[in-house]
Amino acid sequence: MEAEPVQFLWRRYEERLEPSRATLAQFVGAHPRDLVFVTNATSGVNAVVRSLKLHRGEELLTTSHDYNACHNVLIETALRADARLVVATIPFPLQSVEEAVDAILGAVTSRTRLALIDQVTSPTALVLPIARLARELAARGVDTLVDGAHAPGMLPLDLDKLGVAYYTGNLHKWTCAPKGTAFLWVRRDKQAAVQPAVISHGNNTPRPGYTAFQDRFDWAGTFDPSGWFCAGAAIDWMGERLPGGWPEVFQRNRDLAERARGLLCDRLEVAPPCPADMLGAMATLPLPDRFQDLAKTGKLDAEQLRLYDEFGIEVPLMRFGTPSRRYLRVSAQLYNNLAEYEYLAEAIRGL
Ligand SMILES: Cc1ncc(COP(=O)(O)O)c(C=O)c1O
Repeated sequence: MEAEPVQFLWRRYEERLEPSRATLAQFVGAHPRDLVFVTNATSGVNAVVRSLKLHRGEELLTTSHDYNACHNVLIETALRADARLVVATIPFPLQSVEEAVDAILGAVTSRTRLALIDQVTSPTALVLPIARLARELAARGVDTLVDGAHAPGMLPLDLDKLGVAYYTGNLHKWTCAPKGTAFLWVRRDKQAAVQPAVISHGNNTPRPGYTAFQDRFDWAGTFDPSGWFCAGAAIDWMGERLPGGWPEVFQRNRDLAERARGLLCDRLEVAPPCPADMLGAMATLPLPDRFQDLAKTGKLDAEQLRLYDEFGIEVPLMRFGTPSRRYLRVSAQLYNNLAEYEYLAEAIRGL
């Protein structure tokens, strides 16, 4: 890029972007014309939500397990239109997926325009039944925007068959593409109304062979597109790590997360907060009681700092729910093994 910037960023841009988009399209079960790269899921959510033409009194729906940054986009958009943000409270701990489905559908009204549903919830690591929810929401006249920040590379995707209006997902998490690499998929009938979070040349600069949707998103001002160019290579590379390809990666990581959760719950003497069939490759579990009443003193909790500084363990601790309880979230990627969760359990017991 630095040796020949004009070649890289302009003359040969599409030549490098297209093979990557084609591989991504196949990986997520979509047509390339419906897919654009964005820098992250936050940008994808911004593009869709801020493109809505909301009317006063209409409602945006989200859940109590949504991601704070995306929640903020909904708040701001609702404020500007004199619309309302409705938050469906999904219980946590919960006994079955039905509790999540009932909470979401129970919060729909005749004024609901769009539901933002996380495929994998960030604080609680729940896998929500997106296809089922989208079907039920569509039957009530509500479009679904899936925040799939954690899903690509963790769960198999078939976007053309999912039945949602919009889907955004990160490739810099579970597919290990470089940071700043994510995508947005928009159903064809919705594409004309969606503008990127950053408007650039595309609005009046059509390229032969591209849709107006792609023109608008493919360029967002000068940046380093290396990650977008090699997203396809990252997808291929990860799929080659195990003999069974991606299906084996999904299964292996999901199984390890479940075993890790079992081990940690056992060692820390805490109860698993959701059924195993709601797990992907991450699991959230409560911290033992003796940590529950300790107040937060800084940006990160003291125990999270100690786990890194004293044990070399990077693991998020969070406070979630009302009243708030303290949790720990573990992830299982190909480079992780059960002994690491054993080590984590021992470290927490020693804190
Ligand atoms: C559910 C969810 N949405 C959005 C994001 C934001 O992702 P990014 O920072 O890549 O935009 C995350 C990040 O963890 C997430 O878990």
